[in-house]
Amino acid sequence: MTKGWQKSDWRVKPRIQMPDYPDNAALTSVEAQLAKYPPLVFAGEARKLKKQLALAAEGKAFLLQGGDCAESFAEFSADNIRDTFRVMLQMAVVLTYGAKVPVIKVGRMAGQFAKPRSTPTEVIGGVEYPSYRGDIINGFDATEESRRPDPARMLQAYTQAAASLNLLRAFSTGGFADIHRVHSWTLGFAESDKAERYRELSNRISDALDFMTAAGVNADTAHTLSVVDFYTSHEALLLEYEEALCRIDSLTGQPVAGSGHMIWIGDRTRQPDGAHVEFARGVLNPIGLKCGPTTTVEDLKVLMAKLNPQNEAGRLTLIARFGAGKVGEHLPRLVKAVQEEGANVVWSCDPMHGNTIKSSSGYKTRPFNAVLSEVREFFAVHKAEGTIPGGVHFEMTGKDVTECTGGLRAVTDEDLSDRYHTACDPRLNASQSLELAFLVAEELLSLRHEGRRIAL
Ligand code: PEP
Ligand code: CO
Repeated sequence: MTKGWQKSDWRVKPRIQMPDYPDNAALTSVEAQLAKYPPLVFAGEARKLKKQLALAAEGKAFLLQGGDCAESFAEFSADNIRDTFRVMLQMAVVLTYGAKVPVIKVGRMAGQFAKPRSTPTEVIGGVEYPSYRGDIINGFDATEESRRPDPARMLQAYTQAAASLNLLRAFSTGGFADIHRVHSWTLGFAESDKAERYRELSNRISDALDFMTAAGVNADTAHTLSVVDFYTSHEALLLEYEEALCRIDSLTGQPVAGSGHMIWIGDRTRQPDGAHVEFARGVLNPIGLKCGPTTTVEDLKVLMAKLNPQNEAGRLTLIARFGAGKVGEHLPRLVKAVQEEGANVVWSCDPMHGNTIKSSSGYKTRPFNAVLSEVREFFAVHKAEGTIPGGVHFEMTGKDVTECTGGLRAVTDEDLSDRYHTACDPRLNASQSLELAFLVAEELLSLRHEGRRIAL
């Protein structure tokens, strides 16, 4: 990407949100070990994703990015991976119908382990501990020992990521992803109690699939109906891990982050002269950049120039996360800055991170309606500015957890304690995720109709 860039250059830049490892020798030994391991993804795959994202920038594809806030060692199982993958595929079918363009599926999976925190310490049961920073760094249990950063956790994270990717690759091509099967699960949802509102759209998808079958297009004749491209992504926060998995693409000689197909820079670590931007600017992967209420036009312009100096389409995805009621205040100035620079970006909406509240029962939660409002505000701004809403970014799981309130099964504040399993932020459960996909599909359909009217 960038001439003269070295994968260790971030080390001389100011860093925040990263652990101070107490045992330097142990850290160096883990880094050396990881540096010898195979990369988890290959440069050609990252390039392919970038090409697809270039289409999303033009409205010819739509990005669906989703998964855990933080993957954890304890929750690692084939069932969990399968269930999240399954819901993402269901959502993708619904969104494809709404957008009438291919949906790019990117999991917050197989590497989403490190977490930025709002405070370096937290008080639990009257005792102050270092904050939990994600399983790749320290443990969730509230003890001094568990909260000590341990570099060996990077090896376990690598192993879990490798096994997760292996399963995801198998699910993507081994028959599990057959579109008829995926849609039959959605029919189950749409026929359930209280889901009438989504039945019509779901039936229209069934009709489209029946029509294709009648016309002789089925999984046997059309490969694309039975296999999917599925990509992985995570916040590139723990730079020792990222550097150790950085490789040189043998085809182009460019550095590539081998830890996942797409990496992003969080809202807290996007300082233009900071360590995280320095690392991300040098690798060829598609890069995400979270944009929050404190993102200034000046910073955004500098960041776009640093992260995408060639203005390559598909390289940069701006992930807007302002909070419901705040999108109209912040997004237009950033959209205008992008227009002024003539920058090629994908605009994606993360309606999760600006909508976290403490419930009356004490749990961190997100109301479904706030999440939906932010998505609608995002679409409305793009409509007003004449720009393209290119994707959505959710914290979600395929399990029936009770972490976000609302949705058609109406999770209440009191229900949160039933199945609150997240290691970090609250996730949409399977039903809430699919419901949101239907509602986003409605937005996309109305945009399309609008566009048609304009075209006429
Ligand atoms: C996240 O995506 O989990 C996250 C911490 O987001 P943000 O950087 O936007 O706060
Ligand atoms: Co989160």
